[in-house]
Amino acid sequence: ARLAILASGRGSNLQAILDAIAAGALDARVVGVFSDRPDAQALQRVPEALRWSRTPKSCGGRAAFDATLADAVDAVEPDWVVCVGYMRILGEDFVRRFHGRLLNIHPSLLPLYKGLHTHQRALEAGDAEHGASVHFVTAELDAGAVIAQARVPVRAGDDADALAARVLSVEHPLLLQVLRLAAAGRLAERNGQATLDGHPL
Ligand code: GRF
Repeated sequence: ARLAILASGRGSNLQAILDAIAAGALDARVVGVFSDRPDAQALQRVPEALRWSRTPKSCGGRAAFDATLADAVDAVEPDWVVCVGYMRILGEDFVRRFHGRLLNIHPSLLPLYKGLHTHQRALEAGDAEHGASVHFVTAELDAGAVIAQARVPVRAGDDADALAARVLSVEHPLLLQVLRLAAAGRLAERNGQATLDGHPL
């Protein structure tokens, strides 16, 4: 399967994908890495020919940025478009264009803690458990159908960084597990519901 990756930051999830592909543990190819941050570490993890970055400012506004990004993603003919630490909300046109093949990993047990600062919010709520979710992207932020989740315990003395690190360690295998299903053509979205082999998850 051809994967287009959207990332704004560090790119450890991208690295997990690249490592799994190199190890023969994921039947896929990264055909482009797209970023809204020209300085994103994620971009450095792939050869220059696979890198794309623009900012809304460099495109003359948010709508133009979204359209430029969508065209660039389309041009690499991806089977799946995967957001890994992509920190910008995708516009409705973008979401519609890649509907059903647009995935995101979010560091919370959705529907809990959509948006930012998920680890801090889980700590403040006194949750015993926290985790990560992979879901189909819809126009509403972090609200699309959940495909799979991974859980971690919240431990006494955790701060947001400690908890984030624990969640990240389960994010990588979680994402790979979902991408293996996606690459095998077993995953789909029907009527707002994630399906595996045609059956609702
Ligand atoms: C991950 O925790 C992801 O869930 C969140 O941002 C972080 C990105 O990490 N949305 P990385 O850039 O893949 O290292």
